Amino acid sequence: MAVLKKIRTRWWTQPAQPESYLRPKPEPALVPSVGTRYDVRPLTISQLDECWHLDQRCFVDGEAYSRETFEYLLTAPESVSYRAVTSGGVMVGFVIGLVEPDHTGHVTTVGVTPEHRRRHLGKRLMLQVEEGFRRRNVRLVRLEVRSLNTAAQKVYENLGYAVTQRLPKYYSNGGDGLLMLKSLD
Ligand SMILES: CC(C)(COP(=O)(O)OP(=O)(O)OC[C@H]1O[C@@H](n2cnc3c(N)ncnc32)[C@H](O)[C@@H]1OP(=O)(O)O)[C@@H](O)C(=O)NCCC(=O)NCCS
Repeated sequence: MAVLKKIRTRWWTQPAQPESYLRPKPEPALVPSVGTRYDVRPLTISQLDECWHLDQRCFVDGEAYSRETFEYLLTAPESVSYRAVTSGGVMVGFVIGLVEPDHTGHVTTVGVTPEHRRRHLGKRLMLQVEEGFRRRNVRLVRLEVRSLNTAAQKVYENLGYAVTQRLPKYYSNGGDGLLMLKSLD
């Protein structure tokens, strides 16, 4: 996931929120049945809280985005975002992309809730955001990933992304990042 310094800096100047507001209550994890079917749909500001809560369950390394960051990402005109939902309409995954000023597509974050992983939802979400970028005439996609996050790197490599640069101490805990790129030709 990307470290969104500009957005965070902007929101850090806001007054502090009460503790109860900042910490969503954990939801019980139910093991999904083998035949569970999923749809991929657009992700909008209507799903702000659902998405924010899901992100807390996907990113347990202290790098989850704040609610305000999601509010920005889901209302920005350059946002290209999708969610994976069960047939019951519960969101179990999401991807958020931004069309950057240089016209690259930037995948800022993608996550699938732990109990729904390895069902090709991460892959489907990535393919959908790439399609959304294509429709906006984006030809190059970039993303950042933790150097230790081999699961995510595998998903990206399988989809044709290649590491082009190491980003020393990119993450706030000092972890390195990798910049990965894919051409959409
Ligand atoms: C990364 C993440 C989104 C992948 O989602 P997913 O739905 O489980 O991934 P997929 O099922 O689409 O995986 C597609 C392929 O990638 C590879 N892959 C995915 N997870 C893997 C893992 N843990 N170990 C090894 N390979 C893995 C496999 O080749 C897999 O295909 P296969 O299951 O047929 O072998 C998910 O693990 C996640 O939410 N992680 C926490 C948040 C995160 O790290 N996000 C990325 C930030 S950059």
